[in-house]
Amino acid sequence: MSLKKENLNLILMGPPGAGKGTQAKMMVDKYGIPQISTGDLLRAAISSGSELGKKVQAFVTSGALVPDDLVVSVLLNRLSDPDCQAGFVLDGFPRTVCQADSLGKAMKDRKMIVHGTIAIEVPDQELIDRLTGRRICKDCATSFHLKFSAPKKEGICDKCGGELLQRKDDSFEVISNRLNVYHKQTQPLIEYYRKLKILHLVDGLGQIEMIFAKVCDIIQGLNPSDSSKIKI
Ligand code: AP5
Repeated sequence: MSLKKENLNLILMGPPGAGKGTQAKMMVDKYGIPQISTGDLLRAAISSGSELGKKVQAFVTSGALVPDDLVVSVLLNRLSDPDCQAGFVLDGFPRTVCQADSLGKAMKDRKMIVHGTIAIEVPDQELIDRLTGRRICKDCATSFHLKFSAPKKEGICDKCGGELLQRKDDSFEVISNRLNVYHKQTQPLIEYYRKLKILHLVDGLGQIEMIFAKVCDIIQGLNPSDSSKIKI
């Protein structure tokens, strides 16, 4: 069955470095729905020097979670944008049970549902290798990896020629904190969505395209018109 993009509301979960951003961007291209990354929204607020940016900066650079009330309000604002009426993929939200409850309530109020939660699973050691080697173009935000998807010219973006930078929270110390935070505060959501019967696990080890094929298989198996079994 092929999906109508207006019916596709998805959550993409996984630990830091699992490939959420990588897979979400491929979903944007294939399904024409926007990627809503709370991490990107928070980093944009920090770069702009806004009041929100000042409030969240210390949390993001240390790898701690931004308080639920702030991040929920950022997410709900973004969900109100017209492009989200056609569906969306949430990348990095929710990250706590409180955030998941807030999302569920907001969706119910809007008479909308989440059709599926796709959780990408990757062992911690692989996550550390991926994050320490990640480099991002400061101009077009394309992501590279020093070993797994190296740029043709060191330090330079293949797409636009921009400078490649390391994210501040991709230092070894901050990565261990992010992993601890994930295991304590976010991993419980796997059970949360399993109980709602919308959880789909994906092994995140292997070629990016192979993982994307598994993600697409899951999406093809969703039935957006059948909301009867979905309680969120
Ligand atoms: P956020 O920006 O969401 O970061 P994250 O969850 O830590 O995830 P990453 O973006 O680091 O990794 P990813 O899974 O997207 O992996 P990627 O595709 O880039 O959050 C940052 C911070 O913001 C948080 O710490 C927190 O402070 C705050 N925040 C955000 N949301 C929040 C919320 N809801 N509540 C509270 N606070 C919040 O891939 C990683 C690397 O691996 C890349 O180099 C890529 O090329 C490579 N790669 C990808 N797939 C593969 C593969 N299959 N094989 C080999 N390499 C691969």
